[in-house]
Amino acid sequence: MTIQWFPGHMTRARRQIQEKLKLIDVVIELLDARIPMSSRNPMIDEILQNKPRLVLLNKHDLADPAVTAEWVAYFADKGLQALPVDSANGNQTKDIMVRCKELFGDKIATQVRKGINPRPVRALIVGIPNVGKSTLTNRLAGKKIAATGDRPGVTKGQQWIKVGSEMELLDTPGILWPKFEDQMVGMRLAATGAIKEELLNIADIALYVVRYLTVHYGASLQERFSIEKLPDDPQDTDAMIEVMEAIGRKRGALISGGRVDLEKASLTILRELRAGKMGRISLESPSDVRQSDAR
Ligand code: G4P
Repeated sequence: MTIQWFPGHMTRARRQIQEKLKLIDVVIELLDARIPMSSRNPMIDEILQNKPRLVLLNKHDLADPAVTAEWVAYFADKGLQALPVDSANGNQTKDIMVRCKELFGDKIATQVRKGINPRPVRALIVGIPNVGKSTLTNRLAGKKIAATGDRPGVTKGQQWIKVGSEMELLDTPGILWPKFEDQMVGMRLAATGAIKEELLNIADIALYVVRYLTVHYGASLQERFSIEKLPDDPQDTDAMIEVMEAIGRKRGALISGGRVDLEKASLTILRELRAGKMGRISLESPSDVRQSDAR
């Protein structure tokens, strides 16, 4: 699902989340493990203020485990607990529940001291479209929850979903917008499928991916497409386009005269990347973020 965000949507989405914050104890901030910063809302700290927060790095099954470990350390440095999860296939419900309870711990201890039976910890999932909010909700609920009002500005009565006996989840997640003003962020979002590739030029996205893979995952790229040698200079755009053409030829993406259909080749590259065919790949690491912060 792709939402066209306009300033009015953003204001409304923000207001809706702030309304929901009054009802809950802990926020589950869902990010894409392959691009944690690019899949993050730029105003998240301001929106959530001091609400206890657990960061989940979702789609961990597709991300590079070593880079994900760097992200966990990065968030820890910022005082945030981050947990890699795979909502589609894994089951980390218990771990998520334990961490949410810990984050809410002081209040539980106070209730127990006062002789009150502690009530379940109440949580809200927030994240950008396609990051896996519904998948995680279904996983935590242990069943399929009908998708409702999954658009900014569409509301319905709040309902609580039980997660075991000690946790409850608001059934409508908070939908946030990404930081798409930054072109590199847009590329990463499109590369992972978070935004529709038609919003950008598909060959540009694939070029970005092939360049990134050449620098960080050269061996995986070579192996997947049987490429003997990659260009020495990844900044050499012509040489990178030749790599894309070689991939296109391998996959039969040809037009009349035997020339490569670059658009088709680009689609193939993106599809195979998203399906994890080149192995577990992250498109962003904490050092990329530090570099862009320094600029
Ligand atoms: P949203 O509510 O935040 O918009 O996201 P949603 O749960 O709809 O998930 C978006 C896509 O991401 C879905 O794929 C979903 O299966 C996939 N996904 C969610 N979590 C994970 C995960 O941990 N690992 C992997 N590999 N994929 C995940 P889709 O192609 O849109 O649909 P489908 O293939 O499930 O039919």
